[in-house]
Amino acid sequence: MARNSFYTTLERVNRKWSERYVTFRTHAVPPWWAPGLILTDEIRSNYERYLPVSEFIHDFTKILSELLPSPGWIPQALRGSNFRSLPDLWESLPEPISGKVTWTGEAAWLAAFAIASPERNGTRAGRYPEQLEYISGWQRKRRALDLVVTIDYGCGTGQGTYEIANLLDKFPNPGTVIGVTREPIEAWMAANRWPPRLISASANPLRGFGTVPPVLSKTPLEKVDLDRIRKLLERNLAKEAPGDREYPADRFPEKPEKTQIGFVAGDMREFQVAQPVEIILCNGLIGGPNLFSDQDYLRLWKVIETQLAPGGLLILGNHFHDGFKKREHRFHEMGKNRGYKLEAIGQSYFYTASSTILG
Ligand SMILES: C[S@@+](CC[C@H](N)C(=O)[O-])C[C@H]1O[C@@H](n2cnc3c(N)ncnc32)[C@H](O)[C@@H]1O
Repeated sequence: MARNSFYTTLERVNRKWSERYVTFRTHAVPPWWAPGLILTDEIRSNYERYLPVSEFIHDFTKILSELLPSPGWIPQALRGSNFRSLPDLWESLPEPISGKVTWTGEAAWLAAFAIASPERNGTRAGRYPEQLEYISGWQRKRRALDLVVTIDYGCGTGQGTYEIANLLDKFPNPGTVIGVTREPIEAWMAANRWPPRLISASANPLRGFGTVPPVLSKTPLEKVDLDRIRKLLERNLAKEAPGDREYPADRFPEKPEKTQIGFVAGDMREFQVAQPVEIILCNGLIGGPNLFSDQDYLRLWKVIETQLAPGGLLILGNHFHDGFKKREHRFHEMGKNRGYKLEAIGQSYFYTASSTILG
């Protein structure tokens, strides 16, 4: 039975790693990892010798396989692991669970969410006010009854996607907004508006586009205090957001009234649509660690050119540091060479297509 096998795996993995940890503390030399410690090669090799990160991830993945609906839900960061040592993994986890080698069911959940949607992604509402303004202006010029289909690529946990959907709600034309993101856990969090709204077994399945299971867990949820996980995550998010920001990081925009909204987990480079798309958004992705090669960009332009409706709008924004921005500019160069008109406002770039480009 799912519950039994989950707790059996948990106990087995915990026993193994607590023994390993005792050996480590007996034989290894300090310093021990604590938040804020600068990692050196020496510290890393100290940990690797006794607590190798690849083996740790292998065992942790076994625990998650008992919780998540299918292997595809295991966060990408664990599947193609780039963590050089266990402390590198700990650094990516929120405080209540960083620095630990054993798990409770609750901690395993928290880690799955945190690894699939790390704080450094910074997804929150209010990141790109210039985009909302631009879309409003663009919308006003359109004929009243046109359907507006929007795709938000790399939507993460979906706060920005809801914002656009709420904006489109104010216009008379019916709108459909689809968020596409790589991690199934992110798409699921977005579909359920979580955090801060708690997952509930009664959440509605999505209509229309893609299928995101309404209930995440293979293992019955009552053993895991999701409310506590939510509070821990919120505490972390709150730390990120200075109080005077217009949109605190943990504020999730409301659900739109008229505009349909749905989320799909998948790679944007493979995503296909059944009809032309009026607005394509791609924020915090191009030029970043996930999408940066010329080959990626060419694939992306192909996706855009087959999907964007004549007269459609492509919007790219990010808050990257300067190193990443260089790569992003390469993408813009390619766009201009393809004949698009490009306008830069704030942190965003607005491309307009003409029907001649799309042939
Ligand atoms: C930095 S976050 C940006 C989130 C949001 N768009 C924003 O700007 O606030 C980048 C997101 O893109 C997703 N992602 C990365 N590669 C992707 C791909 N090939 N296809 C779809 N989503 C991807 C990641 O999972 C992550 O949620």
